[in-house]
Amino acid sequence: MAEARPPPNFAMKFFIEKNYAMLSQQAANFVAQRLCQNPNLVLGLATGSTPLGLFKILAEKFKKKELDFSLATTFNLDEYCGLPLAHPQSYRSFMEANLFSKINLNYKRIFFPSCSLNSCQDYEEKIKNAGGIALQILGIGRNGHIGFNEPGSKFDSRTRIVRLSQTTIEDNARFFNNIKEVPSKAVTMGIATIMEAKEIVLLASGEKKQDIICQALAGPITEKVPASILQRHKAVNVILDKTVAEKLT
Ligand code: PGA
Repeated sequence: MAEARPPPNFAMKFFIEKNYAMLSQQAANFVAQRLCQNPNLVLGLATGSTPLGLFKILAEKFKKKELDFSLATTFNLDEYCGLPLAHPQSYRSFMEANLFSKINLNYKRIFFPSCSLNSCQDYEEKIKNAGGIALQILGIGRNGHIGFNEPGSKFDSRTRIVRLSQTTIEDNARFFNNIKEVPSKAVTMGIATIMEAKEIVLLASGEKKQDIICQALAGPITEKVPASILQRHKAVNVILDKTVAEKLT
């Protein structure tokens, strides 16, 4: 894939927040607004440390009866292969602990990709049958991955099983007893799947993400930096803290 300087993307809206708490508040306000506008919202969800603050505020808003998730549908971006769903580090368990157990989603409308045979196409169909993802929450890996679309992933990729890069295995080892326990494979929505979301919220915080945010949002659009494709999306809201945005400005 040829590398080309991106044209300025006027569709990308930036919110630079003072700190992680304010980034999370801004993201929660965003989701809350979309859910209030459309109670049947189809929401794409991400795991990782970055959306934890967002999930906490959404749970608080639900507790205060400011939000009702009963008609919403969720699709998670990715899941490890080779971990039982009940394993504390499966993304299903992560979502259960940090969000699902605290709000009133209907469990029949919570969807995860699965590593089982023929289930990737099925996941794509479920997304389509739900009317497509209206709002996709994304984090970004230090290597530019979105979901588990590691560097080199094709821009036209769809939900599939992938091998995790060494950087991702090292980054995620903090959640396991040791690095050998980190699964080497996962299932992820593809880049084309993510790009079909009608609207995207990209979250990034902290010094470790400074360089990759710069490359992804102001560098060439290249499969070497999967998140750089977001420059071509028509409705991306980038919510950053001041630290991560430092090299961008
Ligand atoms: P993090 O992960 O939020 O834990 O930094 C982001 C990602 O890998 O997509």
